[in-house]
Amino acid sequence: MKKIALILLPLSIMLIVAACGNGGETDMESSEKETFSLTEEQEKYYLETGNKITSAVFSVLSGELMGAMQADGVQGAMAYCNLQAYPLTDSLSNEFDAHIIRLAERYRNPDNRLQTDMDRKVFEEYDNMDAERLPTAERVKLADDKSVIFYKPIPLQPQCMACHGPKSAIGEENLAYIRELYPDDKAINFAPGDLRGMWRVEMKLRTDL
Ligand code: HEC
Repeated sequence: MKKIALILLPLSIMLIVAACGNGGETDMESSEKETFSLTEEQEKYYLETGNKITSAVFSVLSGELMGAMQADGVQGAMAYCNLQAYPLTDSLSNEFDAHIIRLAERYRNPDNRLQTDMDRKVFEEYDNMDAERLPTAERVKLADDKSVIFYKPIPLQPQCMACHGPKSAIGEENLAYIRELYPDDKAINFAPGDLRGMWRVEMKLRTDL
């Protein structure tokens, strides 16, 4: 028995490598179609879960952000546009075994820059999209044979202008403060409706659906 296993194991590894080997990240699209694709049930689950997670985080974040702006002004509220400031992000990450981040081409925090080819491709698609289509342009993608990524655009809203609008909306003093905290800041000069960034929620691939 052992001998057979010894022969079969490398063989099956070779087969798997051959099946997954045509590509790497840039070629994901074709290997997605050939090797693995999501079932309708999986697609529905990830779409629902992604939306549930991002709307819960967003409503807490924007509520607290606005409260902090009223209580402590723009500079005092600066820390509240960081997902890590919220225990809810942690608890949802644990509950759904998910990694929740926001990414942007014109980022404020360099940790939030677009990272993979897939990120760049999805962002580009959003960037070329009419503003009215953005709110319902969620995407569910297989990242590899173990994980699925939910993307959703983040359009800028009027209440974000105090920190992401033009200089006139931010004010000299606040802008200087932003530059001090984020010397590489690229996240100003947006207008309401503009694509500010996108959610990226990475979750484990569930095969039990
Ligand atoms: C009080 C100032 C302030 C307000 C108001 C504000 N933001 Fe931010 N925003 C920041 C700061 C500071 C960061 C960087 C956080 C970090 O270090 O992760 C940030 C980061 C982000 C990011 C992550 C990508 C990046 O550039 O680093 C997105 C997306 C974002 N903001 C969207 C919004 C939206 C949408 C609104 C309105 C609902 C908004 N922000 C309102 C200050 C603000």
